[in-house]
Amino acid sequence: MRKPIIAGNWKMNNTIKEAKDLIENLKPLVVDSNVDIVICPSYLSIEAAVELTSGSPIKVGAQNMHYEESGAYTGEVSGEMLKELGIEYIIIGHSERRQYFNETDETVNKKVIKALKLNLNPIVCVGETIEERENNKAKEVVTTQVKNALAGLSQEEISNLIIAYEPIWAIGTGKTASSDDANEVCGWIREVVKELSDQSIAEKIRIQYGGSVKPDNIKELMGQTHIDGALVGGASLKADQFAALVNY
Ligand code: PGA
Repeated sequence: MRKPIIAGNWKMNNTIKEAKDLIENLKPLVVDSNVDIVICPSYLSIEAAVELTSGSPIKVGAQNMHYEESGAYTGEVSGEMLKELGIEYIIIGHSERRQYFNETDETVNKKVIKALKLNLNPIVCVGETIEERENNKAKEVVTTQVKNALAGLSQEEISNLIIAYEPIWAIGTGKTASSDDANEVCGWIREVVKELSDQSIAEKIRIQYGGSVKPDNIKELMGQTHIDGALVGGASLKADQFAALVNY
């Protein structure tokens, strides 16, 4: 039985003060939860988030990292720096990073390898555009993204991953993939993982759906056989909404 994991990707939202308020409001609402709960604030709020969530079921992740330890990479933050702050999860390859910041399958792979070396839990994001879906390319695109992201990983490393299927056309648009479509793609992803490792690992790893997940669609999504959690943007910014997802 895979333990569900609900992760909030706050994106470029919340000042440190706003982040602290959100966490304080969220904490009492999720004490009885049976799922893994992760919040991914901006880098600036991570230290406060780790401190405020200590002793609670809420874990903290980051939204990105560089794959090098240090060096002349102006504006970047390394995994080592984040690890020192006490994060446990790291989102890698979010479509907004691919779209606006030149993230490629190759950099995603380097970051995944680095995160695993640091004992961070990568949440690897994949997903197709609307054009790709309409041209029946979704399976090909997602399969390639997963294979490239996982290239060179050992079976044990693969078993520690979380993969988030996020169709780009569903992110922040209010359009959710139907639960059947989302489940179908998550099933393909599990097949690819099986090809790259084995059946038991494919059955063990958790696959999230992301894209306009809301309190009113979480239950149906989570009822699908291959969907083990959600990566949530907009609805993770309000304590009551995120708590409703966590307590679905
Ligand atoms: P959304 O974002 O929930 O606002 O659609 C999801 C994501 O980008 O992870």
